[in-house]
Amino acid sequence: MRTQVAIIGGGPSGLMLSQLLHLKGIATVVLERQSREYVLSRIRAGVLEHGFAELMREAQCGERMDREGEIHEGFFISDNGAMRRVDLHKYSGGSSVVVYGQTELTRDLYEARDRMNGKVIHNAEDVQPHDLKSANPYVTYRMGDEIIRIDCDYVIGADGFHGVSRKSIPRDVLKEYEKVYPFGWLGVLSRTKPVSPELIYAKHERGFALCSLRSQVLSRYYIQVPLSDTVEDWSDEKFWDELKRRLPADVAERLITGPSIEKSIAPLRSFVAEPMRYGNLFLAGDAAHIVPPTGARGLNSAASDIYYLYHAMVAHYKNGDDSGLDNYSAKALARVWKAQRFSWWMTTMLHTFPDSLAYDQKLQDTELAYLFSSEKAQGSLAENYVGLPF
Ligand code: APR
Ligand code: PHB
Repeated sequence: MRTQVAIIGGGPSGLMLSQLLHLKGIATVVLERQSREYVLSRIRAGVLEHGFAELMREAQCGERMDREGEIHEGFFISDNGAMRRVDLHKYSGGSSVVVYGQTELTRDLYEARDRMNGKVIHNAEDVQPHDLKSANPYVTYRMGDEIIRIDCDYVIGADGFHGVSRKSIPRDVLKEYEKVYPFGWLGVLSRTKPVSPELIYAKHERGFALCSLRSQVLSRYYIQVPLSDTVEDWSDEKFWDELKRRLPADVAERLITGPSIEKSIAPLRSFVAEPMRYGNLFLAGDAAHIVPPTGARGLNSAASDIYYLYHAMVAHYKNGDDSGLDNYSAKALARVWKAQRFSWWMTTMLHTFPDSLAYDQKLQDTELAYLFSSEKAQGSLAENYVGLPF
């Protein structure tokens, strides 16, 4: 088999790039190691930057997002019970975000691939890129006992943090930057009416909490928990009680609880791998970078990688212009590090850090006090949250 762009990973990054390139007549094959059902069973992010929403529309996948997604023009930050609103619309010059589940947009991308007879191969085992520094790279994968080879011009590593692509870059070439936080997020999905029409980021001495949503009948809540905790430590009742303790009293009072239909704990880490290109391999999305979810940047950082790769590949195949490919890593990383900074800032400001100095806690309080005392500080938060320009 031969294609122009072989994409490893059938998550949002890989599917979005495949769809965008197909619309420009550029052939791709997506190799996903899991089944489609498994990929669509994951509960992930829920806030889309303006730029991501635009990409979905350009990929002809935005119709359900525009119909079912919610436009949010602000969110709340509560600080040990006192709640204040960040006006994204006012401080970002009129922009907003779309609240729409990653699971749903991944479903939309799969359905668009089906409509266009896109090649997405599931249950592809032992995917391996080869000859990345040559002009004739290829990818192999196993299906049962058969090893299949796909010759291509380029390989896209969209296979997430635990994928094979980043590990295909020699250790003496790859530089990794990592920061691990001393806590995790326990997340619950429940078929209940959301407690607030807009998100609430709650700073509390007992720990951080977040009230989010997927629709008006599907709520998503998180509480910060120690890394030693397991899901088994948290019954639904214990979760709801703890969440209420971290919210303003009037919010806690009106919280509608219900059975969890998904419950999981995710550790928080900041991670960047450089460079994002090695020969004819290009890394995109979680394969190259991870952020703590506090700033809702994970999926949105993948979006700018895909945007840059999409335009670079079109310039190459349509105009013989390789400047986009040559500049990809530097350009993508410049925006990735700004998302890293913002995610670190939001995480540091809102969480309780075990063993933190009293001085650091005063700095946290001052960070919030300064934020709400300065329109320029709120403007900085807003421009990062709605999404810096691609
Ligand atoms: N071979 C083939 N596919 C693989 C391999 C492999 N060796 N390793 C991983 N994959 C697949 C995974 O099963 C997954 O479906 O690659 C896909 C990567 O998807 P994501 O992890 O969702 O990463 P990405 O597409 O970059 O999307 C980033 O996902 O994890 C969230 O918070 C993150 O919202 C962000 C978004
Ligand atoms: C979510 O709804 O899952 C969500 C929203 C905002 C965040 C993180 C997670 O900052």
